[in-house]
Amino acid sequence: MSVNTRSVTKDELALQKDYSNRVKQLLNNRYDGKKPLACVVTYGCQQNVADSEHIKGMLDKMGYDFTEDRQAAKLVIFNTCAVREHAEDRVFGNVGALKKYKLANPDVVIALCGCMMQQKHIADKIKESFPFVDLVFGTHVVHKLPELLFKALTSNRRVFELPDIDGVIAEGIPVKRDSDSKAWLPIMYGCNNFCTYCIVPYVRGRERSRQVDEIVREFKQIVSEGYKEITLLGQNVNSYGKDLEPQVSFSQLLRMLNDIDGDFRIRFMTSHPKDCTRELIETMAQCDKVATHLHLPFQSGNNRVLKAMNRGYTREKYLELINYAKELMGDSLSITSDIIVGFPGETYEEFKDTLSLVDELGATGLFTFIYSKREGTPAAKLDDPVSHDEKAKWIAELLALQEQVSAREMKRHAGKTYKCYVTGKGKLGDNYLAARTDGNLIIEFEGGDRLIGTFQNITVTEPLTFVLKGEIEKN
Ligand code: 5AD
Ligand code: SF4
Repeated sequence: MSVNTRSVTKDELALQKDYSNRVKQLLNNRYDGKKPLACVVTYGCQQNVADSEHIKGMLDKMGYDFTEDRQAAKLVIFNTCAVREHAEDRVFGNVGALKKYKLANPDVVIALCGCMMQQKHIADKIKESFPFVDLVFGTHVVHKLPELLFKALTSNRRVFELPDIDGVIAEGIPVKRDSDSKAWLPIMYGCNNFCTYCIVPYVRGRERSRQVDEIVREFKQIVSEGYKEITLLGQNVNSYGKDLEPQVSFSQLLRMLNDIDGDFRIRFMTSHPKDCTRELIETMAQCDKVATHLHLPFQSGNNRVLKAMNRGYTREKYLELINYAKELMGDSLSITSDIIVGFPGETYEEFKDTLSLVDELGATGLFTFIYSKREGTPAAKLDDPVSHDEKAKWIAELLALQEQVSAREMKRHAGKTYKCYVTGKGKLGDNYLAARTDGNLIIEFEGGDRLIGTFQNITVTEPLTFVLKGEIEKN
């Protein structure tokens, strides 16, 4: 039993199933038994990708087929992201581009959902300036899509469903996965951290963990369907289970999943340095199916900036964790991170601490962002004297440094043998295949197509800048 979390009841789910059947019937009549097409456009993080896979699962049950072509679809859903302004601008541009199509085809439904919609000023803008949008729903009611779509299809009124709540958990929602080898598995939702720049806690609600048995059930199902790389998702997976009764730690969950029979690899994201424990690092090192890839965003290398961001750790604490991980996992460890450049009030001197941390860290990949002001967050009220152009110069300096660091890191792998999952065709030549290491690096090697979809041991023969070249181990 969890405390504080409202699970969607069986009755509510049954009601949605009922609506799903009604939509199916209605579409069947409207389009003479021919399946209408739906197009789901996803912005942002993996949690959104996972939500879209549930949206597609529900649409599939309602009788839709799928297309990538927006102007061939009878239903277009934009699943939006609010983390940065740039992503929001793209949504407005892309929705605006559908106006003519919608006006020429009144039976088409245009829908918007996701994090952007949970912000009142955005929902208001859609209401006023985008009158051809039929349906808008927030992050807490995705499971109600059948009911909302039924209403949008049967009434002349626009449907807005945007409750501002702490969040719910809905189990058993159908899912249609994009890949047949990689699966996303959300283990928790929401965020309690309130980093001062971030909108996520406001639009995704409070942290809530799925029950262990629900996760294990879905995990086994995914394995039985043949998925090989399973990524556990949460804004802060390290606080998984703190709201469950009895409490379960993320490490314990990983160990349970690692014990499940089958040939698969477990990945997870995102870890927060504040809650990342030595126990988690030991678990990663000890569990053979848990990938030795740590995505641990540090955001800034300067302690004053980290404090202003409300991150809850120092540069020294971060490095202590990283060094412990390096000690236990050696060359098989890959580190990746997120960095924000130009937080309000950050000086160039302070930014240089980020550069030196990047150098010391030795990450194989970085996701770097110029700070984007988010209305309603504490950082939005701070003075931000450094110009965008100046910040762009800083980020270019950071990327140049990371290219050197990455080349240096790639060299470390020469001569090493890693168990890799062969993902598909390579790019280095016709007979090359691409394979992914535990640490999420790509090794290309010569081999026959029958190896695609299997795990193989591959020895690195030549590190290139962004990929490794290798040879399959002869038995
Ligand atoms: N501006 C720029 N980057 C941001 N991120 C989150 N909020 C902002 C913002 N306001 C970045 C952080 C986070 C990643 C998912 O997005 O680096 O880790
Ligand atoms: Fe945003 Fe911080 Fe929560 Fe990540 S941990 S989602 S950056 S508030």
